[in-house]
Amino acid sequence: QALVTRPAPAIAAPVTGATASPTLTIVYGSQTGNAKRLAEKLAAQSEAAGASVRLLRADAYPTRELKDERQLYIVISTQGEGDPPDDAIGLVDFIRGRRAPKLPELKFAVLGLGDSSYPQFCEIGRVLDARLAELGASRLFERGDADLDIDSVATPWMARAVEAAKALAKASPARSATVTPLRPLPAAPAFDRDRPFDAELLAGHALSAPGGLRTPRGRDVRHFELSLEDSGLHYEPGDALGIWPRNPPALVQGVLDALGLDGDQAVDLADETRPLREWLGDKRELTRLSRPFLAAHAERAGDAALGALLEPDGRDALARLFDEQQVIDLLQRHPAQWDAASLVAALRPMTPRLYSIASSQKHAGDEIHLTVAHVEYAVDGQSRWGCASNFLARATEGDRLPVYVEANERFRLPADPTRDIIMVGPGTGVAPFRAFVQERAITGASGRNWLFFGNPHFRTDFLYQLEWQRALRDGHLDRIDLAFSRDQAHKVYVQHKLRDQGREVYARLEEGAHFYVCGAIGMGKDVHAALLDVIVEHGARSAEDAEDYLARLQQQGRYARDVY
Ligand code: 2AM
Repeated sequence: QALVTRPAPAIAAPVTGATASPTLTIVYGSQTGNAKRLAEKLAAQSEAAGASVRLLRADAYPTRELKDERQLYIVISTQGEGDPPDDAIGLVDFIRGRRAPKLPELKFAVLGLGDSSYPQFCEIGRVLDARLAELGASRLFERGDADLDIDSVATPWMARAVEAAKALAKASPARSATVTPLRPLPAAPAFDRDRPFDAELLAGHALSAPGGLRTPRGRDVRHFELSLEDSGLHYEPGDALGIWPRNPPALVQGVLDALGLDGDQAVDLADETRPLREWLGDKRELTRLSRPFLAAHAERAGDAALGALLEPDGRDALARLFDEQQVIDLLQRHPAQWDAASLVAALRPMTPRLYSIASSQKHAGDEIHLTVAHVEYAVDGQSRWGCASNFLARATEGDRLPVYVEANERFRLPADPTRDIIMVGPGTGVAPFRAFVQERAITGASGRNWLFFGNPHFRTDFLYQLEWQRALRDGHLDRIDLAFSRDQAHKVYVQHKLRDQGREVYARLEEGAHFYVCGAIGMGKDVHAALLDVIVEHGARSAEDAEDYLARLQQQGRYARDVY
């Protein structure tokens, strides 16, 4: 199992444990790959600056070595309601906890990543930064709290971090001579996040039957097939596809009209010149509001009530506003003057969206499949869409869409094909499990595959029904347990089915099964709680021992989650 990554697990950096030379240690905790990408870049730049660097994913960090560190950088994201990414749960617990050592010798810096539309913005970075100081370590420079437009905060933070790495290397010239450079990396793939591949859309069709629920959001689920032909891109089951979406021309025109701006005027920003229409269509978020934009708009509109939403008291109202309204709604409801350049500077840069890949490359060859909930809702009777799901829905066969593969090393099939797997994937969370079952079928893996799937109605929302039935018939799926939540008077969810089958679930875990969960964050928490109950009941353990049991599974890579 690859725990030390730089950047691909196959070419792990040399781990020398606590070495004699004062190494700069860089630890990252990453859910969607951004923290990992930045940490890798920071490692490369620090090394180029002469420092001896070791780069570790948080779950590979040997916590007993913390007390021997001299210089430590942490790059870490915060999930949803202030949670650490899954790979950093153990490390964050350790640093926060009572067993954490005093760290008088340590110099450190923290870069937090987050999404400022959540109240617990960059919470984990903030907590670690405060706790390290409390343990006696000295902060090299101020923590960075990076929002979705990561680089505006990350770039200056990284520059300071590299300077401090250089200082460390200079302070110990004798030792820096002994630095072993990290092994050369293999040729980077030709296409990545910053250089996406234009993949042809081969097919797209509805998975949920007409007549199914269309409201409030996202019950219209679609299947898309794209071609990776000639891209050289490779993906493993569990990986995600990143898509750079574009805003629909009609929405861009709506924003231009609301502000009385001319879309053809050229706008310069950070050495880039393009027409305003193109900035708004390709390079700026129009479907997600942000705190900085709201603040700027409230000021321009002279709207104190709007500005007050940014105060602590406005928290709930702000969350509702972010949930319900897009940029255009704000512009229409609270008129204000904007010039083109200020508008482009204030809106948040477009970010790619990640979708769990629903196919196995061994099975699908050059194709890559996605399972996407089309997000559509109405504000004041006007349709509003989710940016990427609508970008896909608008595309027609033959269109080319900018994509890249985002590896997810924490969500992998067992290396041992005889191991059983248990998969919990309600809604579009089923996507990676279609890839898992395809892969295990084509490679002839003998372990049993058990799927828990849930959705509102059997009749309209049984995604990939025929494929599952065929897989059951052919023995590629051992069992499927279904939770159609609205087919009866009371809600039935996957975690209820899991509890019902607790004895068998526990028995398979004891035999070495791997357990996977993919889907909504809330569901992931409820499934986690159900799994603890199963372990308590059928393993005759205390609640605390059950927690340890699950933590061990997680460390062994046998309990993996992909929740969003
Ligand atoms: P509901 O919409 O009827 O509440 C996929 O979205 C499925 O997951 C739906 O059947 C949905 O049910 C269900 N679901 C919603 N919240 C859930 C939760 N906390 N845990 C498990 N399933 C949930």
